[in-house]
Amino acid sequence: MKEMLYEGKAKRIYSTEDPQIVLIEYKDSATAFNGQKKADITGKGRLNNEITSSLFLKLKEQGIDSHFIKRVSETEQLVKKVSIIPLEVVVRNIAAGSFSKRLGVEEGRPLSGPIVEFYLKNDDLGDPLVTKSHILELKAATTEEISILRDKALQINEVLINFFDNLGVNLIDFKLEFGKDQDGQILLADEISPDTCRLWDQKTNEKLDKDVFRRDLGSLTEAYETILKRLGGHQHV
Ligand code: C5P
Repeated sequence: MKEMLYEGKAKRIYSTEDPQIVLIEYKDSATAFNGQKKADITGKGRLNNEITSSLFLKLKEQGIDSHFIKRVSETEQLVKKVSIIPLEVVVRNIAAGSFSKRLGVEEGRPLSGPIVEFYLKNDDLGDPLVTKSHILELKAATTEEISILRDKALQINEVLINFFDNLGVNLIDFKLEFGKDQDGQILLADEISPDTCRLWDQKTNEKLDKDVFRRDLGSLTEAYETILKRLGGHQHV
């Protein structure tokens, strides 16, 4: 029987008959600034489910495994059950967002190489930026795990930069989450979508990501549709 295991800001997670597999439902809700800004946007769940599924499949073709198994409806996908490592791994190629704000670097300035940052997954604390010493002190991950997360994040960055470049889109930055499966193997998890990436059109610099919602720049669904169309459009399940 389908039992809800968890409800987050943008997704619900349900059990399935297989204890090793869970169902993720993408919701139509949009939130920003740690939940302070909220809206219901019809179609957002479907778009993120389709975009994430498509990106996880493309990563798989490049030898990068994730929790993703298959998309089963417009808003749902089956994934391997993992226990999430309580860190958000952010990779940045071009200065933007909190990096620009914190360090006074102009948005849009290319970085000399990709920067990997770790944030503690903790809503009450507002997901603070943490150093390796903080991660070790909090026992959020081991030294070996931190190095695996960094290597995987950089590898995924290389692949995603190329994908998006072929679509006429610059990958500015993005956030990843990882989990451990039953065998203790570290797998890419959660989602990769315009909710978790900054994506700028190469010709116009138009923002095609959640900054459209965060900064009131226009229609979020139009921006996300643009990304989905360039990825190959709607696929029936
Ligand atoms: O806000 P900041 O500049 O640190 O975000 C960096 C990247 O990580 C952006 O692409 C943003 O969408 C993503 N992010 C996320 N979830 C968070 C924080 C950041 O998807 N909780």
